[in-house]
Amino acid sequence: QAIPEVEALLKKMTLEEKIGQLNLLTPGGGVATGSVVSKNVEEKIKAGNVGGLFGVSGPDKIRQAQEIAVKKTRLGIPLLIGSDIIHGYKTTFPTPLGLSSSWDMNLIEQTAQIAAKEATADGINWNFSPMVDIARDPRWGRIAEGAGEDPYLGSQVAKAMVRGYQQKDLTNEATMIATVKHFALYGASEGGRDYNTTDMSRVRMFNEYLPPYKAAIDAGAESVMSSFNDVDGVPASGNKWLLTDLLRDKWGFEGFVVSDYTSVNEMIAHGMGDLQAVSALSINAGLDMDMVGEGFLTTLKKSVDEGKVSEETITQACRRILVAKYKLGLFKDPYKYSDSKRPKRDILTDANKKLAREAARKSFVLFKNENNTLPLSKTAKIALVGPLADSKNNMLGTWAPTGDPQLSVSILEGLKNVAPNARITYAKGANISNDTSFAKKVNVFGPRLEISEESAEALLAEALKAAENADVIVAVVGEASEMSGEAASRTDISIPESQKVLIRELTKTGKPVVLALMSGRPLVIMEELDLPVSILQIWHPGIEAGNAVADVLFGDYNPSGKLTATWPRNVGQIPIYHSEKNTGRPAPSEAFEKFKSQYLDAPNAPLLAFGFGMSYTTFDYKNLQVSKKEIAQGEAIEVSVDVTNTGAYDGTEIVQLYLHDVVRSLTPPMRTLKGFENVFLKKGETKTVVLTLQADDLKFYNGSLDFVAEAGDFEIFVGGDSNASLKETFTLN
Ligand code: IFM
Repeated sequence: QAIPEVEALLKKMTLEEKIGQLNLLTPGGGVATGSVVSKNVEEKIKAGNVGGLFGVSGPDKIRQAQEIAVKKTRLGIPLLIGSDIIHGYKTTFPTPLGLSSSWDMNLIEQTAQIAAKEATADGINWNFSPMVDIARDPRWGRIAEGAGEDPYLGSQVAKAMVRGYQQKDLTNEATMIATVKHFALYGASEGGRDYNTTDMSRVRMFNEYLPPYKAAIDAGAESVMSSFNDVDGVPASGNKWLLTDLLRDKWGFEGFVVSDYTSVNEMIAHGMGDLQAVSALSINAGLDMDMVGEGFLTTLKKSVDEGKVSEETITQACRRILVAKYKLGLFKDPYKYSDSKRPKRDILTDANKKLAREAARKSFVLFKNENNTLPLSKTAKIALVGPLADSKNNMLGTWAPTGDPQLSVSILEGLKNVAPNARITYAKGANISNDTSFAKKVNVFGPRLEISEESAEALLAEALKAAENADVIVAVVGEASEMSGEAASRTDISIPESQKVLIRELTKTGKPVVLALMSGRPLVIMEELDLPVSILQIWHPGIEAGNAVADVLFGDYNPSGKLTATWPRNVGQIPIYHSEKNTGRPAPSEAFEKFKSQYLDAPNAPLLAFGFGMSYTTFDYKNLQVSKKEIAQGEAIEVSVDVTNTGAYDGTEIVQLYLHDVVRSLTPPMRTLKGFENVFLKKGETKTVVLTLQADDLKFYNGSLDFVAEAGDFEIFVGGDSNASLKETFTLN
């Protein structure tokens, strides 16, 4: 639908001015994730060569930038101001993989809403989030930035985040444009190595990897970011099938597409030609805006002159960017996000921090509670040890460049805040890793992995000394923030040896040991799970880290998080995910049998299943029922189950529904998640939970990529994780 103001403006624009709008620059000062940072930004804005900036913030700075664009250029077109606000702006929430472990869509939406409120108060109107890439390979560091392995859950999270950022009306000054990224399949990088090749069948794409992008677009996301990887041999930023045939023609996306950081230029290294060729390929494929690389700015005019790109293609890309500016209300008021009173009013408020604390405690997943060690008494004598126990630098997690780690609550501080009468003795106990060359790679954005001057033996001795008089040992161990995230792939995803030694020695004291395990990804923790320890997975919890951890350790909050990505036994099991297929030779459930689909040296089952997470209480499931045993095409079906809190604490259970299409034209997964609900139950209480399977939940993309439900039998499983055993059946006629 044409917007008259935009059409009128386009008529006045020269080709050069239109190309200028397609150029996105970063003046530095933020996080540069490539080797290039834009130069001479002010001159370029004045020359009408810039459509947007990112990596700048603050209402006054943004006002200055807008003034240059509005007052010093011929047509006075305001700028888009972008930023990476991945899990909160200054009020940093847990990393997205952690946040998704809450399975709480209202909470996730609220975190996005607060992120938008804070970011817009600081001048930003466009967010490079949500990251919705399905990831089934925990070697890939960016698994931390998404919602894990599952397309159904990932789609719910994607929608919630778009709703939170954009809300109903982008003209509202507390909302910003959401960007669905990274389109597409970035999470399937081969070997879990960042930026690597991806290759998969269309049916897998449509059924397992594309749904969250589509869900975000259906929820109204105004912008899409293309990914670094190739798809079917063509880099995403120049892939016409992806950016036009699928995104626009099939899915009806009307917003604008921005490249990733220099991803157009990187197509040269991919082997697609010189800068002029790859820029032409990209714009012709449907890419509208070029991030940092300036290939559009420097070559598109020549390509038009040579007939390689049409002026209409450039006009169309420019139109999409102007429409975004129009929808934001920037033409009416370019200084809409430059109210210098807002930061104080809207950023880091008590209410925002309260939400961060709630989000963090809901993200934690209890793996093991040895001898019911948890919750701890608030008057206990506690030895608090571990390299992450008194670290502020590692609380925020990856991709939190707008947060200030020094404002975060360390675990030590949190324990003291929540239990002032506990007697806490702290000792570092070990370095995160003793490997100096590894530490150097992890410390690119600041000191995350600091190696003590003290010897490993001396550190350990201090921890053991602290443990001597303690009732319980709490060890905060795991990954430094930048051990996961972008360009942080690992081939060995176990806890570094320096910390393993500490954990082993602590268990030898015979005292109860609780591991508060911090990571941005699933880790390999075979050894630790076998030790006599309790384990609470806390991800990187955000600004309220210590308070939230203390809330759970002392039982003010009963842990309720459940895994959204499977934890493998070893790296050899990867890729690993719950929705696997049966194969023609499924492994027997008991003893090994030759010529079956299994390993010689490890079971097929993961260490910790998708959907798994314990509580201080226990839940019992009974009386699974379906509303009909036979349904017609297009009909929904209700599934009900009685859930009882059978333990000694009130608590929340995440009830999960899995579907198995018994026979269909494409081999079906054994179970796929199709519904869930968070249910709070007082001790002893029973509730009947009703989950509705919508007609679309029975559908899949068949061999012709039609979205269909095929008649036949279905099985459903309901329970507290993806191994749920309560089963019912129904038939679709
Ligand atoms: O938004 C990010 C993207 O996720 C990775 N490359 C850099 C972009 C802008 O900072």
